[in-house]
Amino acid sequence: MKVSIDKGKTLLVDGPASAILLSGKVEVFGHAMKLNEKIVIRDGKRMPIMAEQNSTLELHLGENACVEEYEGSTIPPSWNIAYERLLNVAEKPRVAMILGAPDSGKTSFCTYLANKIVRDGYRVVILDGDLGQSDIGPPCSLAYAVLTRPVTDLFNLPAEDVFFVGETSPRKVVERAIQGFSMLKTNALKHNPDFIIVNTDGWVDGEEAIKYKTRIAEEINPHILFFVQRTSELTNLLNALGSRNVMIVESPPAIKQRSREKRKTLRELGYIKYLANAKVQTIPINWIEIKNPGFPYVPSHNSVDSKRAEEISNILGFNPIHIMELSKEICIITAGEKLPNPEKIKKIEEMTGKKVNVQLKGGEEGFIVALYNASDKFLGLGVIREIDYRRKTIKIMTPVSERFTKVIVGRVKLDKNFKEIPMGAEHSVSGAS
Ligand SMILES: Nc1ncnc2c1ncn2[C@@H]1O[C@H](COP(=O)(O)OP(=O)(O)OP(=O)(O)O)[C@@H](O)[C@H]1O
Ligand SMILES: [Mg+2]
Repeated sequence: MKVSIDKGKTLLVDGPASAILLSGKVEVFGHAMKLNEKIVIRDGKRMPIMAEQNSTLELHLGENACVEEYEGSTIPPSWNIAYERLLNVAEKPRVAMILGAPDSGKTSFCTYLANKIVRDGYRVVILDGDLGQSDIGPPCSLAYAVLTRPVTDLFNLPAEDVFFVGETSPRKVVERAIQGFSMLKTNALKHNPDFIIVNTDGWVDGEEAIKYKTRIAEEINPHILFFVQRTSELTNLLNALGSRNVMIVESPPAIKQRSREKRKTLRELGYIKYLANAKVQTIPINWIEIKNPGFPYVPSHNSVDSKRAEEISNILGFNPIHIMELSKEICIITAGEKLPNPEKIKKIEEMTGKKVNVQLKGGEEGFIVALYNASDKFLGLGVIREIDYRRKTIKIMTPVSERFTKVIVGRVKLDKNFKEIPMGAEHSVSGAS
């Protein structure tokens, strides 16, 4: 449909939708749309199209999309003041870090800043530090992109480098995430940018969150920290980081809050982007290094000796699919219908002096993995389909065609449609202890 908009007003478009500028002059997050340019608004996202002159647009609205008119601009004045402050930083590259609660406008503020920067002819790197609502890399990852043209959605930028963490939240993986920030900042500097903008996730409440954000700030050492705040929700974080150069910027009132479900849907778009055209590859396990101490399905090279396997099978009363003996643990892979009872497990633990961990065959299916080449370069994402314990092969579904030699297993499972499967206890039976 054709929509006209008067100078000074904003069209708020909720996706899934697309818009083409037919006449006039409009801006989206600091990006001046060209005539006939098409922008896409993803499901779960809202975009403000602000008319600098009387304009007309062709809008295509998908299911549940909607559009409304807003008097004035939805970009808070403080966003432009923030840009001016960042420009005035003398050191190069100028480094900014963005903090804020979920749905406060962090990503949009980063987009706005980056667009202003490229419009002024500078080079900017955006380091996306949000694992759960990643804009640039795949979900569960940190990543950065170099911006050469203005954009309306950072999602469309190709990731220059990706650091896979493997979780959608940093809570349990703080050290690994910090390692990621450090590595990506070092690599980003090689692009010789004039600006580096570092976005962070919305975990801002509580001592642990404050510690994490402080660690990121120490690692990144930004010249300025922008706090995107609605009311006073960032007070504690501000107190903790207040000795640095900080500025509070407003969270736009026009933001539409997203439900948990919508956030999950947006994440799934991220998996789809990185798993499109995936094919199943079967690889001998001894060709690759599989990393993740918490993933108990990988057949170890030094499998249990046959005498011990026989003793264990005798106690169980059946031959499991696979038995592994690790330094402190016996790991048993069994078919669903053959679940050992806790007393038998206890007996094995007494006999071996090790903890027994029973996993059901099939439980390996769906785990996301990151694939690397021999020079440790991130090649892309994959999903484990199956481990064949007899042939000692692993089936991984991935669009990566280059030879990979290292696989890091994440702690997120996806179904065949790349939808997240809640991680329950349904596939594992823990030992008697
Ligand atoms: N100035 C604005 N006018 C209208 N809509 C906006 C504006 N700023 C942000 N939005 C929309 O509000 C939603 C939330 O904003 P955004 O994604 O930037 O927040 P966030 O803090 O990065 O959220 P998350 O915690 O999910 O990463 C998005 O759909 C975004 O497009
Ligand atoms: Mg965001």
